[in-house]
Amino acid sequence: MKGLILSGGKGSRLYPLTYTSAKQLIPVANKPVLVRVIETIKEAGIDEIGIVINVGSRGDQIRNAIGNGSEFGVKVTYIVQEQPLGLAHAVKVSEDFLGDERFVMFLGDNVIEGGISPLIKQFADSTWNSQIVLTRVANPMQYGVADLAPDGSIRRLIEKPKDPPSDLALVGIYMFDASIHKATHAIKPSWRGELEITDAIQWLVDQGMSVHPYVHKGWWIDTGKKEDMIEANNMVLEELDHQIHGYVDRDSTIGRRVTIEQGAEIINSVVRGPTIIGKNTRIINSYIGPYTSIFHDCVIENSEIEHSMMLENGSVHNIEGRIQDSLIGRNVIIRKSPIRPKAHKFTLGDNSKLGLL
Ligand code: G1P
Repeated sequence: MKGLILSGGKGSRLYPLTYTSAKQLIPVANKPVLVRVIETIKEAGIDEIGIVINVGSRGDQIRNAIGNGSEFGVKVTYIVQEQPLGLAHAVKVSEDFLGDERFVMFLGDNVIEGGISPLIKQFADSTWNSQIVLTRVANPMQYGVADLAPDGSIRRLIEKPKDPPSDLALVGIYMFDASIHKATHAIKPSWRGELEITDAIQWLVDQGMSVHPYVHKGWWIDTGKKEDMIEANNMVLEELDHQIHGYVDRDSTIGRRVTIEQGAEIINSVVRGPTIIGKNTRIINSYIGPYTSIFHDCVIENSEIEHSMMLENGSVHNIEGRIQDSLIGRNVIIRKSPIRPKAHKFTLGDNSKLGLL
């Protein structure tokens, strides 16, 4: 069995962060979402993975970050999708890589509760043509939705229905055998101009093939916006096996469920979990509240931050109000300026969002 990860997209709802970085590389609890997906596939015993990327800089960033996959114990092949023409189109451009093998397809920006790997293994050993993962959502109109018969079999799958027949959404994890290739060739683009994977699976159902629906009971987050990223971060922080590898001085208080990575230093500070402090980050005279991830090489000094994510090499100095519910990008500097006039002074990228007291 092979793995296929879709890592295209502009990530426009996460501008300005995604001007300079692919959204799949944003670290959730200090690990890029894409790396989590690779680890999940590897856990299912699959070590040959295709990653579908965009043309241009976001695709290049993914290649640079993941390389040939050896760091993660897998062999990665990159497949370039020239245009964003849909998930079924991504399968189409991956046909040479996939050959006749069964495969699992993951959306590279989805974060799911741990423990999904056995499901993939189960499909590898089955004779089903496909297995899909469904979960109950509050807003089914935004997803592909399944209409199940009383016996639990699939009656119909509809992409972004105006009038949803159920609240069971298709989660971004799909398992197929080679019959999906016939489907991707048979279907036509949808109203949004994309070859929909939902339509391809419906085609399998219409041909009388076996498509097994699995209803996932745990959490699942499709990380489109800042709020989703922070929510995914909260969930993963709760799941982590927390460990302290860095230095904590005698004047600091560290709560339960705190990870302090190698080379990090906590000086005269309070850190409450679930929280992770990244490699070589320094926390000085500060408060780090629950549900916070501070990535590598950051400095937080005389400040308070909670329920937030901070990416690498950022710094916060002498801020009076507490920073909360924030997603702070790479190399960002936030500090109280001693230079007159006493005023707010910003250098913000396009589409930045700033919430002042
Ligand atoms: C895609 C699929 C949809 C699925 C969703 C999961 O939607 O088309 O069926 O429910 O992913 O994240 P898109 O992200 O393209 O809007």
